[in-house]
Amino acid sequence: MSLRFAERATRIPDSGIREIANRAMELPGAIRLELGEPDFPTPRHIGEAAARAIAEGKTRYTATSGLRVLRELLAAKLKRVNGIDVPLEQVTVTSGGANAVFAAIASIVNPGDEVLVPSPAWPNYVMQVLACGGVVREYELNPVTFLPNPADLAERFTPRTRILIVNSPGNPTGAVLPRETAEALVDLAVRHNCFLISDEVYDELVFDQPHVSLFPLAPDNVIGIYSFSKTYAMTGWRLGYAVARRDLIVTMERVQEGVVSCASQVSQEAGIAALQGDQSVVAEMRELYRARRDMVVSQLQAVDLYTYTPQGAFYILVNIAASGLKSRAFALELLDRYQVAVAPGSAFGSSADHVVRISLASSERDLREGVTRIAALVAAHRA
Ligand SMILES: Cc1ncc(COP(=O)(O)O)c(C=O)c1O
Repeated sequence: MSLRFAERATRIPDSGIREIANRAMELPGAIRLELGEPDFPTPRHIGEAAARAIAEGKTRYTATSGLRVLRELLAAKLKRVNGIDVPLEQVTVTSGGANAVFAAIASIVNPGDEVLVPSPAWPNYVMQVLACGGVVREYELNPVTFLPNPADLAERFTPRTRILIVNSPGNPTGAVLPRETAEALVDLAVRHNCFLISDEVYDELVFDQPHVSLFPLAPDNVIGIYSFSKTYAMTGWRLGYAVARRDLIVTMERVQEGVVSCASQVSQEAGIAALQGDQSVVAEMRELYRARRDMVVSQLQAVDLYTYTPQGAFYILVNIAASGLKSRAFALELLDRYQVAVAPGSAFGSSADHVVRISLASSERDLREGVTRIAALVAAHRA
């Protein structure tokens, strides 16, 4: 008799970025612009604090919600950066932002419940909703600005909608929600009696306009998701946190206790050092991303491929529609003929087959050369 797997698990799609990344690994010397993590090392003082923690035996389980000192520092950060003023009981530490999103979805979604997911978006939302037995309903972002249109989105709610997912600054778009749009989205969630997961893991990587945190707009409905991964170049430490109403935090911690028990103590000690240390490391990285963004934007303008300027995170979507190719075919050909790896737009949802994502967390030389070769491939098909 054959052994069966859960249907919902087998329906989780493969990552469209991984296909390109795996091929790129086989091509020594390929320019890698497809991955979404900082190219900087974790600042030295953070690593040293972790090494000290290990030497001191701080290598045990902590409370599910995280170390109290860390949560106190997080409450202060939420106040300083996000304008969120909550007691410690509304803050919980997780194994990365990904785990925080999962704990929220798992706490809210019953089988068959619908979750509104932006398209294009970070692919893990779809994976997590499916893993929880939920139904994904995409809502399209504007194809040029990559902002949601609240009037269109209003049409997507049904009586089964439980969560609206919003991500600003956005991956893969780099788009940052203006305040009025943020307010309109929160208003929609409240009117439809839904939760709103506001993924703000890139909150400290904004360039030209302030980041708007959604939690203060409707503290009963909004779950704020944050992370150390991007702000402090700490992707591998797996440290994130969430802010939400107290009863939801309690439920999320119940999920967390069953799944991970707690975030790694060593990583939590590193997080304490990150928050207590000099914050200029954050500004330095942000300014480097900004300089690279400006460089890529002017290069795209010069080759007639410019469409928009990302306002945050470290990604830019390049419109390759003039090539006549769909994004996956374009990414495969770009890698085979020009040895440049980019993430196909199709990896991020059904409305992004006209774009590829390049990561600004790459060296200026690779970015310059990569964009030159993208333009060459578009031109080769245009001719
Ligand atoms: C939009 C978005 N949310 C959440 C995450 C999760 O980050 P982490 O789990 O490393 O905190 C990522 C990582 O790429 C992301 O792009």
